[in-house]
Amino acid sequence: MQPWYINAVFYQLYLRAFNDSDNDGHGDFTGLRQRLDYLEWLGVDCVWIMPMYRSPLRDDGYDISSFYGIHPTYGVLEDFQMTVEEMHRRGLRVIVDMVVNHTSDQHPWFQEARRSKDSPMRDFYVWSDTDEKYREARIIFLDTEPSNWTFDPLTGQYYWHRFFSHQPDLNYDNPKVRQAMLDIFKFWLEMGIDGFRVDAVPYLYEREGTDCENLPETHEFLKELRRFVDEHYPGRLLLAEANQWPHDLLPYFGNGDEFQMCFHFPVMPRLYMALARQDRSSVVQIMADTPPIPESCQWATFLRNHDELTLEMVTPEDREYMWDTYAADRRYRINLGIRRRLAPLMDNDRRKIELMNSLLFTLPGAPVLYYGDEIGMGDDVTLPDRNGVRTPMQWIDDPSAGFSTSASPYSPIISDAVYGYHQVNVQSQQLDPNSLLHTIHRMIATRKTLPVLAKAPLDWLHELPLSSMCFWRRSSEGAVLALHNLSEEPLAVRLPDGTTFTDALNPDGGPCQGEITLGAYGYRWLVPSS
Ligand code: NOJ
Repeated sequence: MQPWYINAVFYQLYLRAFNDSDNDGHGDFTGLRQRLDYLEWLGVDCVWIMPMYRSPLRDDGYDISSFYGIHPTYGVLEDFQMTVEEMHRRGLRVIVDMVVNHTSDQHPWFQEARRSKDSPMRDFYVWSDTDEKYREARIIFLDTEPSNWTFDPLTGQYYWHRFFSHQPDLNYDNPKVRQAMLDIFKFWLEMGIDGFRVDAVPYLYEREGTDCENLPETHEFLKELRRFVDEHYPGRLLLAEANQWPHDLLPYFGNGDEFQMCFHFPVMPRLYMALARQDRSSVVQIMADTPPIPESCQWATFLRNHDELTLEMVTPEDREYMWDTYAADRRYRINLGIRRRLAPLMDNDRRKIELMNSLLFTLPGAPVLYYGDEIGMGDDVTLPDRNGVRTPMQWIDDPSAGFSTSASPYSPIISDAVYGYHQVNVQSQQLDPNSLLHTIHRMIATRKTLPVLAKAPLDWLHELPLSSMCFWRRSSEGAVLALHNLSEEPLAVRLPDGTTFTDALNPDGGPCQGEITLGAYGYRWLVPSS
């Protein structure tokens, strides 16, 4: 039997933004439980909950101050447990974020560690008398961090951090850190969750003369983590966030003994590039450069997430092109990326939004949807950092958006004329069978009937114009001919002689054969029926 995640559809959920049950302005677990009907109806298989731990929330919970506690505005541990149970009762799986690389500087470990050089916790973090070490390690948060070292005046040493300076990196050379992390995983696995999205995994160790990414020692620990999980909690999922090139990602799968899933970062910007240039070449290339992965493993694919649309995995020229095309207004640029949601990136052109989703659902991998993108939510560029793509979920046409009646929600609710709660909300789209939401709903349902889409090889129809993305997905599990037109111009496709197809997304539309024409940005999922 194939593991559940191979053909799963994931839904990335920002708890703070989802539904506020006690009207303190922050989403919470009780609020999430009240919305489970929606997620069940939508048809996703697994919900990924972003960090819900105690945190000063200076990096939206990726700065953990207690690994064992729920952030107070989200509820208490019992709320979490009830939510997991309720999700399971409905057949939904749930994975949670775990931040292994660093903690908040408010974490008691760091508070204790920084008190003196002799602190028993000192070795939980990485300290140095100079800021000269590990110079080959790149800075990730380029817009805010001048260095990966920050001077701590209390003890006159520098501490190491790959992200914000308030997020000191843990020292994985210390066996106590490794053990502490395994204990944390155990604690949450005991709650019955189905797995973890493991944050920022490439950076666990530092070694002089390297870029301090993807080091052998890092893989050694990650394999130990997997052994631990498999031994005590078989079947639970580890999904890696490693923003790397395909050949550097391969070791994260190991021989099927490290992560079962990794996000496929490089393919994502190329989908946007292909659409803008009306040229599939970069996607064809990156898929050709993507090595086969072990049988039990799967790629997680996505169009957007809570971070900027990262352009780390493209050439400098392509980055400029992407910025010029999708972020001409410089306020949309952050670090090496673009802080916008899918619908605004597509100029709110329904045809393009659907096309991109169709590609997500038909290319290899398990799709991960970002909350709100299924209704075409917008972003708010006036908010700092990446907050503009983390605004409250828009449930109904009401100034509260059905999210919270608090006078001071954690973030303004989008209320502009195009993307505001009045135009864009779940309720009105559920009532309208022609809405984007219904289209996404249909794609999810259809995808589930076509397990071949999860892992089958990808065979491009190279003879078709570059402005098309047409490919076969074929294996013993079946066959799908996925057709996509990246341009405004109609695209004629000659179907193989003697074969009749059914349009899986529109099975009542009658059989397709001979020559068919796709309109501007059109797409079809054709299944041979004879
Ligand atoms: C990756 C997360 O996706 C991002 O949101 C966060 O800021 C960094 N890791 C640092 O934890």
